[in-house]
Amino acid sequence: MNPTETLPKPALQSGGRMLIGGDWREAQSGKRFATVNPATGDTLLEVAEGDAADVDLAVKAARQALDGPWGKMSASQRGRLLWRLGDLISEKTAELAHLETLDTGKPLGESSKIDVPLTADIFYYNAGAATKLEGSTVPVSGPYLNYTIREPIGVVGLIVPWNFPLLIAARKVGPALAAGNTVVLKPAEETPLTALRLGELALEAGIPPGVLNVVPGFGPTAGAALVAHPGVAGIAFTGETTTGQLIMQSAARTLKKVSLELGGKSPNIVFADADIDAASRGSMMAIFYNKGEVCTAGSRLFVEKGVHDAMLEKVIERAGKMTQGDPFDSKTRLGAQTSEAQMEKISKYVEIGKKEGARLVMGGEPARIGNGRGWFWKPTIFDNVTNSMTIAREEIFGPVLSVITFEDFDKALAEANDSLYGLSAGIWTRDIKKAHRAARMLHAGTVWINTYNLYDAASPYGGTKASGFGRESGMAGLDFYTQTKSVWVDLS
Ligand code: NAI
Ligand code: MG
Repeated sequence: MNPTETLPKPALQSGGRMLIGGDWREAQSGKRFATVNPATGDTLLEVAEGDAADVDLAVKAARQALDGPWGKMSASQRGRLLWRLGDLISEKTAELAHLETLDTGKPLGESSKIDVPLTADIFYYNAGAATKLEGSTVPVSGPYLNYTIREPIGVVGLIVPWNFPLLIAARKVGPALAAGNTVVLKPAEETPLTALRLGELALEAGIPPGVLNVVPGFGPTAGAALVAHPGVAGIAFTGETTTGQLIMQSAARTLKKVSLELGGKSPNIVFADADIDAASRGSMMAIFYNKGEVCTAGSRLFVEKGVHDAMLEKVIERAGKMTQGDPFDSKTRLGAQTSEAQMEKISKYVEIGKKEGARLVMGGEPARIGNGRGWFWKPTIFDNVTNSMTIAREEIFGPVLSVITFEDFDKALAEANDSLYGLSAGIWTRDIKKAHRAARMLHAGTVWINTYNLYDAASPYGGTKASGFGRESGMAGLDFYTQTKSVWVDLS
């Protein structure tokens, strides 16, 4: 029997209702929508489908909480509540990881060892940060005292995608609450379960009703209503670049702040002097982690000519040994793509790659796993790719690697930077000068040297160019959620 079939249905005490002002409610319209297990095609749960009417109630509840107990709470008290939430998440790692894997198709090893522990750590980090949002005393001219206060911006809308549903929600909820805002969280329609569970745990931690509201629903209805709502001061969004553009346009009408973490087409550059074994291992992680559904995926592998054959051989060998299968099987390294739309997108790009003359050296087709109704794509590698090909320019968001050969440092760096995107980059070399020179030159919010895809609650994360702007995590992650007030006192 397929291990997934022996697992219980997802346990949500709230039964798939939405969280508004501390109450679990059905949508005003009474509608629900299905969330599906990508590994089997089975419906997991029908979830309340929020739209503009529900978003309006949630924003009002958030405003009330801000004007009420939350706004009056000390930073230290807020910090303690966030710490308690971090503890609850840690205690429930197994349960949350299970729910996340059911909804996303990612291997259980990833959700239980990465997604959930990092989520807890984000709450711990932000618990401590709540009391560190200091203002300053400013040496102005004249007989005046001038000082600044860092205040919350108000009710914030958080719009989250489906690749790391709980983790990306935490990267926004943590700093928003630490800084004293209240929020309306809209999870992705593909993966609403862990956000709803987070809402349950926030109430259990003692976070007052209305501080965290969770409204599942679709982008063009619930998401767009949140962006257009005049009672919302800012939108923090992670998702597709074109959606980010729509959000920015709509936010202009109500003059909202926006923070956008968008797509990527990240270069991962292997120089001939690198530890090729480590580079091949790292390059695998860069593209196959979370089945390539990672905004920082190292999808353009630049390899210096002299080591091209050795590198390709090692990458193919490693990819061939990677177990693809049931996400709940502990041997599985490559799970199911989260949606049918992603399968279609991957398939379309593989065809374009072949047509434009790239050489398919591995995969390139769906894999049949379990009952055959899941969305599995074989690890796919294209060699002889040039940086101008469509598969090197557009985000595929799947386990598809493009290998590009280069001959010298400057040309490699120029090609790496010749992209609409600028989210992250990797460099593999034993030459310390070369590594740091490249790190400075790369158009990217994050650069990894002799490693790839590392994240930490303390380290800022975000993009440049079409990958967006704004930073999440670290103290920089709190900037978006605060505004500075300047106070003058006449001392004469
Ligand atoms: P998307 O950007 O449409 O969806 C992300 C979130 O935005 C979801 O919660 C969705 O409901 C919401 N949304 C969609 N349209 C909206 C609107 N008009 N107003 C407000 N909210 C809206 O991304 P989608 O369609 O799920 O995936 C498409 C592609 O986007 C992927 O193939 C991938 O290339 C990229 N993507 C990038 C991510 C990243 O981490 N940077 C995450 C997810 C997708
Ligand atoms: Mg979309």
